[in-house]
Amino acid sequence: MENQPADFSTAVLVIGAGPSGLAAAACLAAKLIPVLILERDDAVAPLWRRRTYARLRLQQHKRYCELPLFGLPPSAPTFLPCSDFIRYLDDYAAALGLEQLLRLRRRVDSAEFDPPSARWRIDAAYLETGAVEKYDARFLVVATGEDDEPLLPIGISGLDRFSGETVHSNQFRTGEIYQGLDVLVVGSGNSGMEIAYDLAECGARASLVVRRELHLVTREMLAFAMGMAKYLPVSLVDLMVLLWCYIWFGNTSKYGLHRPSKGPIYLRHNAPIIYPVVDSGAFTKIKSGDIEVLPAISTIEDNNVITFENGKRRRFDAIIFATGYRSTVKNWLKGDDYLIGEDGLSSRGFPPHLKGKNGLYCVGLSKRGLHGVAEDVVCIADDIGSVFHRKEKQT
Ligand SMILES: Cc1cc2nc3c(=O)[nH]c(=O)nc-3n(C[C@H](O)[C@H](O)[C@H](O)COP(=O)(O)OP(=O)(O)OC[C@H]3O[C@@H](n4cnc5c(N)ncnc54)[C@H](O)[C@@H]3O)c2cc1C
Ligand SMILES: *[C@@H]1O[C@H](CO)[C@@H](O)[C@H](O)[C@H]1NC(C)=O
Repeated sequence: MENQPADFSTAVLVIGAGPSGLAAAACLAAKLIPVLILERDDAVAPLWRRRTYARLRLQQHKRYCELPLFGLPPSAPTFLPCSDFIRYLDDYAAALGLEQLLRLRRRVDSAEFDPPSARWRIDAAYLETGAVEKYDARFLVVATGEDDEPLLPIGISGLDRFSGETVHSNQFRTGEIYQGLDVLVVGSGNSGMEIAYDLAECGARASLVVRRELHLVTREMLAFAMGMAKYLPVSLVDLMVLLWCYIWFGNTSKYGLHRPSKGPIYLRHNAPIIYPVVDSGAFTKIKSGDIEVLPAISTIEDNNVITFENGKRRRFDAIIFATGYRSTVKNWLKGDDYLIGEDGLSSRGFPPHLKGKNGLYCVGLSKRGLHGVAEDVVCIADDIGSVFHRKEKQT
């Protein structure tokens, strides 16, 4: 298999056409480096197109969502609605000529470095026909995202007895269809909070399972903190944000939302599972009792009655699992035990989080969301460019 000639050969292969992959390809193409993008879906940025809800706005200030070479229009709102972000990514691909580099409906099933030829060998299924296509490239840029596969909680006792609807948050579009129903949202990250709020706005009776400590902040606080963290020590920024939180929200503990002992920006940098959670309006509904906060589920009984760890019992019509996603890089990337850890994310920490061995790079896998993508793709393109153009000069 290794010795079969490739169907397509290029200098750089980028896997994934989300914001990270598009921006990486744009920066490489601008340096006149031959690049192809393989994307499983049939359009760019499918996560934003098909797995988000109507209410979604980007959490961070627009300046942290902008990609290199083609910026957002100055008229763009500070916190972009999802539809504006999708339009921006479409315009980005069109303006920078990325469509001709894109090969859609290609699912990468294996990528492995071949030492004798010093090239990456990639097998991709062309999903239109099921045919396996073989690619080879000198450099491989992994941009398949942290949020590829929806995660469902395991081991909820009695879940098989629940006869109402159970869906993962990636299928949730709007709370309108739940009007008048009792809906349980499991998971108190950004999606869970926002979905609970949307349900309450749409006239559903929403409950929210909060199993962990979290820092509730506003978009403005996050923008402020991200700006300040460039100039001031994190401990000071955290102090300012926590003070602002206290003035804005009061003590959230009495509503079942307990803050971790470490500050939000410290945790964002050091324990990135605990993102600060951006309040999209849910907190007002929690205070007014329109959203009930509940601890972990103990068991699901007959007739869709659920018991919680504090002994409360409630009946629900539907459960929405806002329990996150995982990276799937480890399913197909072979032979790398350096750059990408067992969880499919960059294991190199920040900042040396981009570059592996043998011309392997990754972008968008260091738990920073869109923040940092622009900077990272410029570094990657510079690094690849320095090797690529040096080689060219020699030959
Ligand atoms: C509901 C929701 C809201 C979010 N909101 C924000 C936000 O406000 N701010 C923020 O910073 N982040 C947010 N995120 C995180 C978001 O995933 C990333 O910030 C952003 O999409 C990262 O872009 P990316 O290009 O790295 O990954 P993605 O957008 O996930 O793109 C990866 C691409 O790779 C493709 N792919 C995966 N595996 C393969 C394969 N084997 N072969 C071929 N193609 C493959 C996928 O189809 C996908 O198109 C949100 C995530 C979700 C789910
Ligand atoms: C918030 O309230 C809880 C009890 O409800 C208390 O233990 C905690 O010290 C309070 N925090 C602050 C900052 O006042």
